Order: sequence, then structure tokens, then C-alpha cells
Amino acid sequence: MNAQTTSNAAVYSEKDADGVVTIWLDDPEASANTMNQRYIDAMGDVVDQLEKDIEARAVKGVVVASKKKTFFAGGDLVGIQKIRADQAHEAFDMVEKVKSQLRRLETCGVPVASAINGAALGGGLEITLATHYRVAVDDRSVKLGLPEVTLGLLPGGGGVTRTVRMFGLQSALMDWLLQGQQRDPKRALEKGLIHAVVATKDELLPAARAWVLENADDPEAAKQPWDREKFRLPGGAPSSPKLAAVLPSFPANLRKQLKGADYPAPRAIMSAAVEGAGVDLDTASRIESRYFATLVAGKNSKDMIQAFFFDMQALGAGSLRPKGVERSKAKKVGVLGAGMMGAGIAYACASRGVDVVLKDVSAENAQKGKDYSKKILDNKVSRSQMTQEAADEVLARITPTTDAADLKGCDVIVEAVFEDPELKAKVFAEAEQQVDEKTLLCSNTSTLPITGLAKGVTRPKDFIGLHFFSPVDKMKLVEIIVGEETSDETLARAIDLVQQIGKLPIVVNDSRGFFTSRVFGTYVLEGPAMLEEGIDPMSIDRAGTSAGFPTGPLALLDEVTLSLPRHIAEETKKAAAAEGAEVPEPAGLDVLATMLDEHDRPGRAAGKGFYDYADGKRGKLWPQLRETYTKSDVTTPYSDLQDRYRFAMAIDAARCFEEGVITSTAAANIGSIFGIGFPANTGGVARFIETYEGGMKGFVARANELADAYGERFRPSQWLTERANAGKGLVE
Ligand code: NAI
Repeated sequence: MNAQTTSNAAVYSEKDADGVVTIWLDDPEASANTMNQRYIDAMGDVVDQLEKDIEARAVKGVVVASKKKTFFAGGDLVGIQKIRADQAHEAFDMVEKVKSQLRRLETCGVPVASAINGAALGGGLEITLATHYRVAVDDRSVKLGLPEVTLGLLPGGGGVTRTVRMFGLQSALMDWLLQGQQRDPKRALEKGLIHAVVATKDELLPAARAWVLENADDPEAAKQPWDREKFRLPGGAPSSPKLAAVLPSFPANLRKQLKGADYPAPRAIMSAAVEGAGVDLDTASRIESRYFATLVAGKNSKDMIQAFFFDMQALGAGSLRPKGVERSKAKKVGVLGAGMMGAGIAYACASRGVDVVLKDVSAENAQKGKDYSKKILDNKVSRSQMTQEAADEVLARITPTTDAADLKGCDVIVEAVFEDPELKAKVFAEAEQQVDEKTLLCSNTSTLPITGLAKGVTRPKDFIGLHFFSPVDKMKLVEIIVGEETSDETLARAIDLVQQIGKLPIVVNDSRGFFTSRVFGTYVLEGPAMLEEGIDPMSIDRAGTSAGFPTGPLALLDEVTLSLPRHIAEETKKAAAAEGAEVPEPAGLDVLATMLDEHDRPGRAAGKGFYDYADGKRGKLWPQLRETYTKSDVTTPYSDLQDRYRFAMAIDAARCFEEGVITSTAAANIGSIFGIGFPANTGGVARFIETYEGGMKGFVARANELADAYGERFRPSQWLTERANAGKGLVE
């Protein structure tokens, strides 16, 4: 090999005896390659050198390859977070530079192949899109896609411009850009994103080299489709009658998909794609850079990057795991109660290779719990997401039983029987007789304080709350609740288990409703509170979804049943009374009482709630609702309705920080988005509080405004006010 450029640069090239240049991506100062300044500088040198060599006719072709485990991680998110609102120009210049290098590579005159050995997402995929041939290893770790939209960004390294030219406007938007889909190599091949897959890493470079050498003398192979003479945009240009006819529906559909919530990135992606489709590649590319720069300098991308990249990374890396405890791995888990949650937990464990004993009171119930897994697995097999053999293996790991003796040998017990402290104590007593002293004892209670439940077991230090969300197979979050006596080792082992089964743990301290269930209640109750004020029910739910919540509060109450918040409020009141305390009556309960007691409309399961239902499907709002409650002279600003939802949750979340129920902003952000539907476009509830316009002080001011207008529940506490005034955040 013949070194071409400095081999300790983030990008360097080597030329072999056949005249094939390999461009290596290998940032010397990081474990993954990103589009940082080191990349930009080094790539510039590599392309300069390459052009010189090609001019001297010393190059047959080029292979772009990576020395890292992932091919290339994408944009430099640490750098992006530092770009200020007034620096859109700098961002534009930076991305234009990245793109001009890739454009020069793409038009260098010899065939260029990329050898994709690991994940190529975002910027990583964009590098390969500027090459003429893409071959990837067919490995589970390899994912291909443009997920920028999930971070509030757009693929500004040519991703929008090139996918539009590869797939046509509509397919590029639907299949790659607007949802940031990630695909494995086989699916990417089927979709036409890449040209070939190889079975092993050893075959990768030879395959890329072979293509380059085979095509070395073919000038057409060294051209992208869009640089060929007769190129036509697949599916037609925006001005073609066929596309022009459907184009106006694009923004309307997007709005519908986002339920009116404010997400700047998909809007910008759509604009860049449509505007770029009608012009030449260089102009399209510049349009793309402009939209990119605006997003990068804006607040939304910062919020989403913080939550979906940095907070997720912190939680994944075990930032909340006590130090000094050895990692543990569960082999056999006993699940008590094979109802909706127990069945889901059993599936989650079995699908990650853990044996499960699934116990219920009758053989029929236990079997029904196991059948739940069968249904999910059958579905996966029928969609070719899994082989029958693999599915059978997962199913065989679940042993349904009524016999507590089968729990012998379990290293973890997860209890998911009815929400009744006495019953929970009873099933734990039964289980404890069968297992040894090291077995972790977990309860999936959704509201009952863990310290109280711990009184029902003989080893409270080994007892912990493991709050899964429904449906367990879809919901990634698990809220781990530490009781007063829970030991550090127990917490560490609980985190290990949650991660072992592929879920996302957040850790909170004990309190009624913990963090998620408690904060969730404040959102749903705001709906009936507004109804009582005379606000139109349609506006009530629309304001929720347009604020970024997945479902409006009235529709959501129908899902969880109207009696649930009432029951929780009663239990909370009783518990407070037992301690000689008093809790204020939550707003909105009167409406729930009337709906339940006078109109017998408990929710979706009964076919009637705030909405009417036919065959389980939500229909129209119950007509009498408007007649009963709506007042035509109420003119509450829509933005107040939206803020009331966000602030109702945020004020209670702040109280959770104040009370020490939650201590990590990352946990609060991720818990609020993944567990209880807090708008993802804010970056999570802690981020919302801390980075509100004007900072936390601005948040406190707005909360006071809402409290003056709509009730004391919005009043920020003295603790929060003092911290805001002192310029402090939610945690030290
Ligand atoms: P469920 O009613 O679907 O299932 C409870 C199961 O426990 C039933 O199959 C019942 O036969 C079984 N059971 C009762 N006594 C038993 C005993 N002595 N031994 C073994 N099994 C027994 O209830 P679900 O919804 O699964 O809830 C279970 C727990 O999970 C509750 O504590 C609930 O608060 C909590 N939870 C529920 C969530 C939800 O969305 N439904 C979310 C998170 C937690």
C-alpha cells in the first residue's frame, strides 16, 4: 500500500498496486466517526490529493471504508449543540463545505464504491449516497437510514437532495425522510438504497474493490444517475401534471400526521425536497443547506438532540446505576399474575433469552398469559420478521403454572397481580418460600408506594418497584422505584435486568404514583376542568394534540376509564388523611362524577365515555357533552389551553424534583416523553421548565400567569421560584 495522505488524520487515503484508492474514515480522537472539524479538514485534503492523482491518470477507482465498528455515526451533535441562534450563517458555510467535498468525490471521474461495515446513519449514509455503488455487510448491527428528523434536523449533507433523485419525491419523503426510518441491509437492498450485500465482513472490501475494477473503464459507472444526460426525476418533477395534482395534499397530510403539533424539521424537509426537486442538483443542495442551517440554529433541534441523543445516552450508559456493584444477568424470572401486564412482562423476558415461570391462580389464566406471547410471535413470523424456529424457541422459554413450587431457581420475581396491597403481600409470601435469599423481589405496581409494599416481604432491602407500561411489548420505558430500604445492589440489579430485556430504565424515589403516574394525572384532569369552565370539547382535545401530546385528555380518559382518576384521588385523600394531612381536591373531578354516576359513561371499554364508540372504535364526541357544558361566551385563548396541559404536568414534575422523587433531568425528560406522552418537541418536561422562553424565570412567570387566570394548581412553589431567581436549574 502506498500512503496518500496522513494516516493519523480523521480521513486518509491509501493507494494499492492496482490503482484503487481506499479512503479510510477513522477519527483518531473518537470511538466513532462524525462530521466534525477534523473530518472536514481531512476530507478536504483527501479529495485534493485524489483529484491530483486522477489527473495524473494514476487512479482506477475509489473505495470509501471505515476503520470503526460503525461505518460513520453522522453529524457532530456535540458541535451542533454549541451553534447559537445567531450562527445560522456559520452552519450554512460548514455544511456547504461538507457537501462540496462530497460533490467533488461524486464527480471525480472514476468509479467510487462504499464498503459499509457498520451502521451508516444520517451523515454516514450521506457520504455513501455521494458514491456510485454501495455494498453492505448483512449483519444485525448494520442500520441504514436518515434519522435526522427525530433530532429536529434534516439530512443536510445531501441526503434530501439525493434521495429525492434516487426514489422520487413521494417515496423519498415517505420511505426515508419524514420518519427517519432505519433499515437493515437486506431491506435497504430491496428498497434500492444500496446495490449489494455480502454475508461477512471479510467479503466486504474485496466486493467493493471488485466492482471498482470491473467498472474502471466505464465512464458511465463513474456517474450518478442524476449526472447522466437523460436523467428524469423518478415519479416526475413537481411541475409534471401527475405530481402537481397530488402536491397540494403533502403539507395537509403532514399536518394531519403531526396532529397539528409544531415540529419544524419535517416541515423543512418537505420544503427542501419539493423546492429542490424542481431545480438542478447544485441549487437543490444549496436550498437544503439553508433549511438545515435554520433548523440547526433553532431551539427545537437542541431540545430534541438533548433528549433523544444525550439523555438517552446517559441513561443507557447507566448514569443512574450505583457504582461498584458487579453487573448481573438474570437467567430465570418468575412472573406472578398472567394478566395484561404479567403476560407482557413474560414476553419481554422470554424474547431476550430469559426463562420465565408465569404463575396465575388457574391453569387457564396462566396459559392465556402465555398465548399472548404466541400471538405476538405468530405475527412476527407471518411478517417474516422472525423464523418459526426462533419463535418456537422464545415460546418454549415460558412455563405457565399455578404451582408456586415452579418458582424454585428464579433469580428475579416480578409481581403483577391486582393492585391490592394485601394480595401482593400474599403472593410474595408464597413466592419467598420457594426462592433463595438472593432473589430480587420486584413489584409492577402502578401507584402503590414501594416502602409500604416492602413491609409485606421478609427482605425489604431486596424489594424494588419495576413499573412497566402498557402494552409492554411496545413501550420501552420502565420506571424503577427505590423504596426507603431498597439497597444499592438491588437497584443495580434491577437496572441490569431492565437493560438485559432491551428496555429503558429511569430511576425514581418512592411516592404515591411515583413520577409518571402522578404527573400523568395532572394532564388528563385538565380536560374535564376545561369542560367545566365551558370550553368546547373539540377544542379541548385538539389543543392537547396540537400542543404535542399523542392523545387529547378526553379521549385519553376514555381509554384509561373515567373511574381511574377518581379512584386514585380517593386513595390519595385517604392516605393523606391517615397521615393527618389534607390534599386539595383536583379540578375536573365533578365532571367525572357526573359522567359516571348520572350518565353512566365510563369510557371506551363500555362503548361510551366522552366519545361514542362503535366496535371499539372512537366515533364522535357525545353530543350531550356540548349541550351540558359548553358556554358560547367563553373565549379562553387557544395558546392558554395548550400551555395549561404542559404546565399542569411541568408544575407537578417540578414538585417531584423539589420532593426528591426524581433527581435526574435526563430521567424526567425521557420518562415524560416515553411514559406519559409529554410533547417530544419540547425535549421533555425538565427541559421544558429549564429552557422556557426567558429560562426558568420565564417559566415561573408564565406559571404565575396561568395560576392567576385558571387556578392555584399552576402556582409555582417557593422552592422553584427561588431556584429560578437564583439562576439555578432543577438539580444542583
Ligand atoms: P390484570 O387484571 O390484567 O391481571 C392480574 C392477574 O393477576 C390476573 O390474571 C389474575 O388472575 C392474577 N392473579 C390474581 N391473584 C393472583 C395470585 N394469587 N397469584 C397469581 N396470580 C394472581 O391486571 P394488570 O393490568 O395486568 O395489572 C397488574 C398490576 O400491574 C397491577 O398492580 C397494576 O396496577 C399494574 N400496572 C398496570 C398497568 C396497566 O396499564 N394495566 C400499567 C402498569 C402497572
